[in-house]
Amino acid sequence: MLHLVSPSLLAADFANLEKDVLMVNKSQADWLHLDIMDGVFVPNISFGFPIIESVKKIVEKPLDVHLMIVDPDRYLSRFCDAGANILTVQYEACPHLQRTVTEIRNLGMKAGVAINPHTPVSLLKNILPFIDMVLIMTVNPGFGGQSFINESYNKISELRKMIDTGDYDVMIEVDGGINIKNATPLIESGVNVLVAGNSVFSSDDPEVTIMRLKNCVKQS
Ligand code: DX5
Ligand code: ZN
Repeated sequence: MLHLVSPSLLAADFANLEKDVLMVNKSQADWLHLDIMDGVFVPNISFGFPIIESVKKIVEKPLDVHLMIVDPDRYLSRFCDAGANILTVQYEACPHLQRTVTEIRNLGMKAGVAINPHTPVSLLKNILPFIDMVLIMTVNPGFGGQSFINESYNKISELRKMIDTGDYDVMIEVDGGINIKNATPLIESGVNVLVAGNSVFSSDDPEVTIMRLKNCVKQS
């Protein structure tokens, strides 16, 4: 399967979101990534339901919603109603993770679990049968435009082995500092979904950058 590309709206022009969403519609992007930050789980606040609902009215791609919030269980159905198609919660924010991801699936969304750079992938062993995606954070969450943490490659390879050995139907997504240079080695390490914020929206031609991320490895 060709990998997926999910541009992160966090790096878009918030004074003109429509223009950037229409660009994503026209592009080869597969999903649109939305970062929800609560100022508690991460030291930053991004945006909430009104923005998601407005984007949903014009976007033609599935919404890949990444919750960097404490106690996400309180809001799962609200994110579903707002238009999320894939809903990812942070491992570190969920004491009853199996219940949380089961509820996400019961609501009709795909369930993802994100892990921070310090969280070992081995902790995911018993949740893999219940989820559709693991998001490996390749920076500390909270801000766009940070540098990719190289140690992430070891985590990706280890997780790829766990998924293949158990024959789980689980995608690996990476998020933070992804660009046209590290896209190819990441896909070759076993990644299925590339999230990219600044490398897309700060580039001269975001649509071309998305195309380059989408075609960074030759199809076999
Ligand atoms: C970071 C967010 C990312 C962010 C990525 O906390 O989860 O999705 O938007 O931005 P870049 O690609 O600029 O690192
Ligand atoms: Zn994200």
